[in-house]
Amino acid sequence: MSGSTEEGQKPRWWQDAVIYQVYPRSFADGDGDGVGDLAGLLTRLPYIASLGVDGIWMTPFQPSPQVDQGYDVSDYCGVDPLFGTMAQFDELLAAAHALGLRIFLDVVPNHCSSEHLLFQAAVAAGPGSPERAMFHFAKGRDADTPPNNWQSVFGGRAWSRVNPGSDTDQEWYLHLFSPEQPDWNWRNPAVGDYFEDVLRFWFDKGVDGLRIDVAHALFKADGLPDAANADSVVDGLRSNLHVSDQEEVHEVYRRWRRVADSYSPERVLVGEVNLDPDRAARYTRHDEMHQAFAFAFVKLGWNAAAWAAVGTELEAARREHGAAPTWALENHDIVRSVTRFGGGERGAMRARAGLLAVLGLPGGAYIYQGQELNLPEVDVPLDARVDPMWHRGGVSRDGARIPLPWTVDSGDTFGFSSPGAPAPWLPTPEAWGSRSVEAHLNDSGSTLHLVTTALELRKQLREKEILAADDGGTWRVENGGLLICERGDQFLLAVAMGDDACHLPDGNVVLASSPLTPEGLLPPDAAAWVLRN
Ligand code: NOJ
Repeated sequence: MSGSTEEGQKPRWWQDAVIYQVYPRSFADGDGDGVGDLAGLLTRLPYIASLGVDGIWMTPFQPSPQVDQGYDVSDYCGVDPLFGTMAQFDELLAAAHALGLRIFLDVVPNHCSSEHLLFQAAVAAGPGSPERAMFHFAKGRDADTPPNNWQSVFGGRAWSRVNPGSDTDQEWYLHLFSPEQPDWNWRNPAVGDYFEDVLRFWFDKGVDGLRIDVAHALFKADGLPDAANADSVVDGLRSNLHVSDQEEVHEVYRRWRRVADSYSPERVLVGEVNLDPDRAARYTRHDEMHQAFAFAFVKLGWNAAAWAAVGTELEAARREHGAAPTWALENHDIVRSVTRFGGGERGAMRARAGLLAVLGLPGGAYIYQGQELNLPEVDVPLDARVDPMWHRGGVSRDGARIPLPWTVDSGDTFGFSSPGAPAPWLPTPEAWGSRSVEAHLNDSGSTLHLVTTALELRKQLREKEILAADDGGTWRVENGGLLICERGDQFLLAVAMGDDACHLPDGNVVLASSPLTPEGLLPPDAAAWVLRN
């Protein structure tokens, strides 16, 4: 089997799609209030189309108190006035489709906002009610001790008292993230029915796909037992086996796949499944999600042997379970790769090379807004940080969420807002203009140009059938830390991850992230696409 299609079926467009992630509040501000919105995104759609990507994933813009920047949803089928109106969303969807861009939305099924009407009803209805059965409410071990020892991903315990101080209501509710994000109880069939309606609402509108937030965590172990490691579930929910990867969750995605497949054209599901490759791949069996993000490289640093080992593991998972990896080096939760790979000029070279690498690998790929500008992580001043993870757990994701710079110089916001608008919701650094879209467009050697060239070439190689939507990769490391991934017998990707320039295997270099040395070697911290003779 190849790709997560049944044997014998033609490869589908999504199997090697490149999707651009838009974080709406930081992309473009159309109404001049300092927060990005749908109107801003609409005006910038031609820019996204000009990159050559296949579609856009938009992080949440649904009504939300914005405690977790929209991942605390109070109405799954609406648009928060902060971002615009449903009419604007409809216009955006039509405009994107007219430009040949698919639209993926975020669905957040693990938890909602404490202001969601069903949670409010649950609080009001009291212990033992069917309303409370939609969530995880339970009596504490005593008035001050929650039902179990689970810790929240954002820091602190994963339980809060509903009515602190009440003698009649001694229940607590579960929240794997902040207290304003109560977890749904997926063991209650009414929750599954509710989310099927949510899926159908957006699919009926013509939305092409959904990215599923913390997709592996919906089911908690029956009886909510104590975690063996009481200290933390912070490491991507990994250390508490009771909140992650329960077998029952797969039935949810089988049901969602049936819903997605009932539309024409088929709708696509891509999961945030933060598990080891062999476990994550089980979510992309042929009757479950279409794709799951491969975050493995994010944790590896700049190390050829480690990348080859993980690449080989993902390839084995692809062969066993059928779905090609969906590569992502960045998103709104992760420190920007320029900074992760060491910062400064060297980090910038590596991030460019890393991006060219994932665009050359078999499978799909995601580009996070600003990655095409090689933006570094920003050290946001302490008093400007808004991430709940910072306030509860001391880790800030704000530095990867800075409003995008569009122009070299334009007042304080570098074209993000209209002139005269209030300061953006997160401060932009002074040097932001030199990293702007305009600056990149004016520089033929910029990362933006590298990305557009790579995506154009990727299409051509597909058309010539040198690359296939569902091909696999063979990984190895050559002397001096040269990482190689071969796709078929005509194409290979090489990344020089050691300290020395490297000889490339025979062939024509059709694209490289840095010029080759005068001797024709690939310099350190560079990637190349090679066509074999
Ligand atoms: C993953 C999202 O990407 C992140 O931003 C959010 O805080 C958590 N899930 C909780 O929804």
